[in-house]
Amino acid sequence: MSPSQPPAPATGKLGILTPGMGAVSTTFIAGVLAARKGYAQPFGSLSQLSHIRLGKRTDGRNPLIKDLVPLAGLDDLEFGGWDPYSDDAYTSAMKAGVLDARDIEGIGDELRAVRPYPAVFSSRWVKNLEGIDQVKEAATHMDLAERLMEDIDHFRGERGVDRLVMVWCGSTEAYEEPSAVHSDLQAFEQGLKDNDPAISPSQIYAYAALKMKVPFANGAPNLTVDTPALVELAAQEEVPISGKDFKTGQTLMKTMVAPGLKARMLGVRGWFSTNILGNRDGEVLDDPDSFRSKEVSKLGVLEQILQPEVYPELYGDIYHKVRINYYPPRGDDKEGWDSIDIFGWLGYPMQIKIDFLCKDSILAAPIVLDLALFMDLAARSGWAGVQEWLSFYFKSPQSAPGLYPENDLFIQLTKLKNTLRHMMGEELITHLGTEYYEEV
Ligand SMILES: NC(=O)c1ccc[n+]([C@@H]2O[C@H](COP(=O)([O-])OP(=O)(O)OC[C@H]3O[C@@H](n4cnc5c(N)ncnc54)[C@H](O)[C@@H]3O)[C@@H](O)[C@H]2O)c1
Repeated sequence: MSPSQPPAPATGKLGILTPGMGAVSTTFIAGVLAARKGYAQPFGSLSQLSHIRLGKRTDGRNPLIKDLVPLAGLDDLEFGGWDPYSDDAYTSAMKAGVLDARDIEGIGDELRAVRPYPAVFSSRWVKNLEGIDQVKEAATHMDLAERLMEDIDHFRGERGVDRLVMVWCGSTEAYEEPSAVHSDLQAFEQGLKDNDPAISPSQIYAYAALKMKVPFANGAPNLTVDTPALVELAAQEEVPISGKDFKTGQTLMKTMVAPGLKARMLGVRGWFSTNILGNRDGEVLDDPDSFRSKEVSKLGVLEQILQPEVYPELYGDIYHKVRINYYPPRGDDKEGWDSIDIFGWLGYPMQIKIDFLCKDSILAAPIVLDLALFMDLAARSGWAGVQEWLSFYFKSPQSAPGLYPENDLFIQLTKLKNTLRHMMGEELITHLGTEYYEEV
């Protein structure tokens, strides 16, 4: 990360490619199209709505983020992607059931024009999907990666885009630890040629993207770019990467509440989190292997925020449990319960109950937008490798080897905003503020 190189301007069009064109992806595309036409506002998006303070509090400088840093405009975005279902974005949005048909009527034609390319897909990695109708066939994983690169080239030519980013919005893949094939790029490329069974489809997309110098953000908990091999490729090709798992719903709540409890030195004995949801994501997560990926990504959050090793008397003995239950009647309207057992002065116990009736894809869609715009900004700034300043958007943020990830939403926000200030040569804000009083 170098402050000496300001970002190049965002001229021309930016293509946003999403492997996976289900609930999140189509809700994101519909929201951008609706905002473009003035039917809706991009609520939930920092890149569109958030202001950023610059200089001293007395300076009165508080521009919108998008007026500080050169971001691609909503009018300059083109959408594409891949899915094993051939439904166009309108049909897929209707099936996902997040948005009301009446709300997307005015953008129906634009949505119908977004059609996914056939997917690189394997039911070994994602079970519980019935009736898929477009899957690429090739002799080796490497051939599949090349097919994806051809799609990327095709999209670039057809839509006349100047730059591209890829954001994984595909189903959660089965849990798998990194293995020998992920240890370096050479082993990984050999594995692609040998059809190594430890290489998942999302890793093939990521490989294709990075080879084409397309920044890659991972919205699901699967490994994807979080392996030494793909980190090496990102460095070699000088491309930004980020992940994992969009921070929405219950984990968003957790990373808001836990820092508050810790700030007040209140202890936690137990944290039971359970969700019911009935969308396709919920169906995939009904499979224990896919759920395991999610569970790992969700469980780590509390431990990192509360630091039981530093505060054993407050957080050394927490019973933390996370459950996801597939319950079709609820559709995309997830319900996330948190039952938190805390204690305070003299060890007296107290309880907090949170019942978050949320709409998962409504929370995730602006994250896709922000990640796409900020990853493109990072690329135009010449930044490569893991973009830890985008941890704000992830449940399980990818960080440099040997570094623990930062999960506290408020530290993440400070880091994000300071990174933007740094990028534009503005003073960082420490909130120390002694100068205001020295002058009095
Ligand atoms: N909705 C949220 O708030 C949220 C939050 C965090 C993470 N996520 C993750 O984002 C992803 C998308 O969520 P969703 O609600 O849109 O799910 P979804 O099931 O509606 O959409 C996922 C799509 O990915 C497709 N897919 C599966 N394997 C693929 C492959 N190999 N290549 C291309 N497409 C593939 C599926 O056919 C499906 O259409 C999931 O992994 C989910 O866990 C979602």
